[in-house]
Amino acid sequence: MLDDVLASSGEARQRAFDAVREMLARHETAEEMIVRPLTRKAPDGERVAEGRMQEENRAKEVLAALEKMDVESAEFVTTFTEFRQSVLDHAQAEETQEFPLLRQNTDAEALVKARDRVMRAEEMAPTHPHPSAKTTAANYVAGPFAAMLDRARDAFSSSDK
Ligand SMILES: [Fe+2]
Repeated sequence: MLDDVLASSGEARQRAFDAVREMLARHETAEEMIVRPLTRKAPDGERVAEGRMQEENRAKEVLAALEKMDVESAEFVTTFTEFRQSVLDHAQAEETQEFPLLRQNTDAEALVKARDRVMRAEEMAPTHPHPSAKTTAANYVAGPFAAMLDRARDAFSSSDK
């Protein structure tokens, strides 16, 4: 999905960028609400969780900056190329530091439960604004990332009983 943004142009690039933001809003919100609390319980988990949260918070800032740029501009391409790498580095940090810690310190049943909750959360979260909130400018239909996160958070907490 990250590569699609760089490989496309014009409205297709805008749509690909919207799809990446949508996916990250669901995925990172699910991680923050479901995975990270388990990480924090593990020995040294507080530090590992904090490192991942800093990466995610930095990504939110970069996304907010990207949203203000013209997707066709050189500035967007340069910034998105760096952003792509930081998302991949973040995923690798989760896979090499956070997940092994979870595997060692969390019982299998709790891990399976957490996995199922993440998958459900990712599927159901309606991070799109209500249809009536659409504007005439196609670029802004998806709305800012911060609003996508809020909607994902609300949807997860109301459904996750
Ligand atoms: Fe993450």
